Amino acid sequence: MRTGSSVKVWLAALAVVAAVVLAGCCERCKFQAKEKGKMSVTKEPFGQADGQAVELYTLTNKNGLRARIMTYGGILVSFETPDRQGKLADITLGFDTLEEYLKGHPYFGATIGRYGNRIGKGKFTLDGVEYKLAVNNGPNHLHGGIKGFDKVVWEAGGFENGQGVGLRLGYVSKDGEEGYPGNLACIVTYLLTNEDELRISYEATTDKATVLNLTNHTYWNLAGQGEGDILGHELMLAADRYTPVDEGLIPTGELRSVKGTPMDFTKAMEIGSRIQQVDIGGYDHNFVLNSGGGTMALAATVYERGSGRVMEIHTDQPGVQFYTGNFLDGSNKGKGKVYNKHYAFCLETQHLPDSPNRPQFPSVVLRPGEKYETVTVHRFYTK
Ligand code: BGC
Repeated sequence: MRTGSSVKVWLAALAVVAAVVLAGCCERCKFQAKEKGKMSVTKEPFGQADGQAVELYTLTNKNGLRARIMTYGGILVSFETPDRQGKLADITLGFDTLEEYLKGHPYFGATIGRYGNRIGKGKFTLDGVEYKLAVNNGPNHLHGGIKGFDKVVWEAGGFENGQGVGLRLGYVSKDGEEGYPGNLACIVTYLLTNEDELRISYEATTDKATVLNLTNHTYWNLAGQGEGDILGHELMLAADRYTPVDEGLIPTGELRSVKGTPMDFTKAMEIGSRIQQVDIGGYDHNFVLNSGGGTMALAATVYERGSGRVMEIHTDQPGVQFYTGNFLDGSNKGKGKVYNKHYAFCLETQHLPDSPNRPQFPSVVLRPGEKYETVTVHRFYTK
């Protein structure tokens, strides 16, 4: 049974979400009223999920970059940036309709919670109590479970600030959801700046000690979605070490040097240059960022020669999951294109997988009275 004080904390959390979302709405209304330059925030109905209305927001910055985000799953539905000739293309995998997302998909563009990547055997012990989570990936828990944050409808409000245009999404995850302890109030903010950055910020509070590892699961192809594989993209990862995994893709606990292995992207290399040597069908590994997390630092740079597009990723997280769409197999068709193996890459900034069971990894525990705050910035330009 919930105690009186935890009810209070939970109500306070709800109030926080409502206040932030409402603040966003007011800013949005003002903004829509006074169109300024080419920047805009608009919204349109996008269907229904679980009997709830889903909305699709479009953020356009003053340079014409355009992000579309929906309230179902906090999903980045599309992201258009110019190539070196100034021609816009959508560089993210996804679908044109909500119905296609509802049929199931491998987390295209999704907000992932409560835990990005895997928790071994779907259980962990915190403060002497064992918690059993929903198991949805063999014997393991992946990306928040059966109904993770990617499958719930978020409250939302668009806004404008001095930096650009944005969308705030709020969700309160109930105590016990997918097996996790604590009522957790979360806010995810997408901000598309006029400096051509997509900043994704996460905030959360809880009324019971819990574990948390939020991320975004966008599948990128800098040549344009569906325009071939990403093996020719050049990647730099600011990571001297990675976490080797067992057959269930659970880290063994070792932090291994990338030196002399196909995992070494410390100097920019084509993604495909050594991918055949990776025995699990491509990259699906968590890299340990040299920054150690806690302060903003460059984590990755990706360059696609044909279009000239560059994406830099800066984050305060200690790790990044590099995934090369190994499970895409052509059965995924979206936005008018077929998505074959390696047609996209993901760089999911996060804590290391299975951290709740690995006391030697940086902690993912959030306690009442603490605030979870993290930011990842995607910076776009051409060369
Ligand atoms: C994981 C992959 C998984 C994919 C889901 C990635 O973050 O590392 O193992 O298959 O998400 O589509």
